[in-house]
Amino acid sequence: MAEDVPKLFLREIQLGDKANKLSLGSESFVPLKTFLEKDAWQFHEENIAKTFVLVDSIEAGARIYGYVSLTCSAVELEDGQKPTNPVRASNYPAYPAVKIVRLAIDKSMRGHGYGKQLLDFSIANVMDKIMPNVGCRFLIVDSKQESIKFYEKLGFNLVNSEENREADNPMMFIDLHLLSNN
Ligand SMILES: CC(C)(COP(=O)(O)OP(=O)(O)OC[C@H]1O[C@@H](n2cnc3c(N)ncnc32)[C@H](O)[C@@H]1OP(=O)(O)O)[C@@H](O)C(=O)NCCC(=O)NCCS
Repeated sequence: MAEDVPKLFLREIQLGDKANKLSLGSESFVPLKTFLEKDAWQFHEENIAKTFVLVDSIEAGARIYGYVSLTCSAVELEDGQKPTNPVRASNYPAYPAVKIVRLAIDKSMRGHGYGKQLLDFSIANVMDKIMPNVGCRFLIVDSKQESIKFYEKLGFNLVNSEENREADNPMMFIDLHLLSNN
């Protein structure tokens, strides 16, 4: 990482953490900032979605430069993408998943691996803390069109239906069970 890039800490969101300076660079990303400013901490406290932030200090009240929010979900998969072992597992229309409901990195911090760090953290979180205790197979995200390549680079696939491929926010998934066997 370049020397002029501040070191950021990844921790759960705390009351008073500041999102007001977060700059995401496009009108279409405004809801990502609004969620962080208005809802993220309360959703975290009330177990609606858990938020983890990249901040410039481990103390509460730090400036937020990036974040990811995770919640329970399910993913509907097409034949060819469903789990096939055992065979009867492929009978289901939907499979258990954790969903990345929001993920963003401040414009000034992009291109330094922080987005990947949030994804790696999310994957490890599900594999280490959820999968040993509760059936959960996939990590999913409603991607923005311009972020598809970012997720693909890190192993995600598009849900393979025509409707999904043409959607504004197509769903993508990664099979964590296959990852754990590699
Ligand atoms: C998408 C986003 C999170 C990427 O964050 P980032 O910190 O710049 O990403 P990283 O530096 O960790 O990049 C990891 C890899 O993905 C690649 N990558 C990142 N964004 C990319 C993009 N838009 N298109 C293609 N590749 C991309 C990087 O080149 C890097 O590849 P490398 O390992 O071969 O060098 C960030 O651009 C962002 O916040 N965008 C706005 C909000 C958004 O789109 N959120 C996701 C939708 S829910």
